[in-house]
Amino acid sequence: MFTNLNYNKEMLSSDKRSGSISWQSPSNIAIVKYWGKHGLQLPCNPSVSFTLSNAFTKTTLEWTLKNKNITDEVSFEFWFEGRRNELFEKKQVKFLNSISNIFPFLVEYNLKVSSENSFPHSAGIASSASSMSALALCLCSMEKEVLGTNISKRDFDEKSSYISRLGSGSACRSVFSRVASWGKCEQINGSSDLFATEIPNIHEKFLNFQDTILIVSGKEKEVSSSVGHGLMTGHPFATQRFAQAKYNIEKIIESLKTGDLNVFGEVLEEEALTLHSMMMTSRPSFILLKPESLEIISKVKKFREESSIPLYFTLDAGPNIHLLYPKEYVKEVISFINEEILEHLDSKRYIQDEVGLGPSLAQLL
Ligand code: PMV
Repeated sequence: MFTNLNYNKEMLSSDKRSGSISWQSPSNIAIVKYWGKHGLQLPCNPSVSFTLSNAFTKTTLEWTLKNKNITDEVSFEFWFEGRRNELFEKKQVKFLNSISNIFPFLVEYNLKVSSENSFPHSAGIASSASSMSALALCLCSMEKEVLGTNISKRDFDEKSSYISRLGSGSACRSVFSRVASWGKCEQINGSSDLFATEIPNIHEKFLNFQDTILIVSGKEKEVSSSVGHGLMTGHPFATQRFAQAKYNIEKIIESLKTGDLNVFGEVLEEEALTLHSMMMTSRPSFILLKPESLEIISKVKKFREESSIPLYFTLDAGPNIHLLYPKEYVKEVISFINEEILEHLDSKRYIQDEVGLGPSLAQLL
């Protein structure tokens, strides 16, 4: 899909030898988790996420036509927060070469990507969703510029989600506003394993839902996502897990429409704990939760019972906890965090985020 079969070099506009574009793209937090993949970054089960707002990557892509192109390799520099980063550069060159059938014109240009994150280093927040989606959006914009193609917003979004997915699975959901799903499922019209789609008509309770990210550890992930997904192949509970995710998608979609916070919270927490159970029972096994994560989870449950405030937790494949709740309870939740949770956090750090509207064009870096 999206392979460019009609391309030939003559199509490149010679009056525009160089150009640049900049996108800001957010991270997302999965409600129903994607864990397990097959083929070329295809999910074993559908997933749903909230697009965030404050945790984002800003990426600028600059291109200049080569004087003479004698290689069929991509020429590429990667700068992160003002410094050239050769480690990321190697990974991204590999990625760009792998999508040369979709963007065959890339080899004709010298490319420079500059990127920065809104969230601090060592916050333990995975940046692959925001960074891969920002890069994918820049590439799709560049294609429009250099080939002069006319593409509808829907096709542009689909294509950038598809490219994001090839870079990092969950990144494909970041392209859309508020709530996105990825993976073929009956309940969602137009859903696909190849790219994400936006779930429209969300209940107003969720439109500005809060996500307070509690930094239990700012260290890098102990287990990379690819290793984690790989552990689902041949996992003793894989079949049950994929069936559970499909069932949970149904429940979550219903609750997102009706505003039923009880069902939402039940599914959210079940998904987070199942993800960790899968890792604890894989071969080899991994325990990614820290004692502090467990302390926080039990305090959140107690707080919810005593205050009747709909405060729920979720986790990614690491020890940090995302607290999700309606905006009207920000004051109560922040006092709860300050009074009872800070002692469990790495350098007492937390990041306040909320459901957001997705990527936007940005100022050049
Ligand atoms: O996109 P990846 O390969 O980094 O995998 C992300 C997996 C989870 O964050 C644990 C779940 C998800 O759906 O985002």
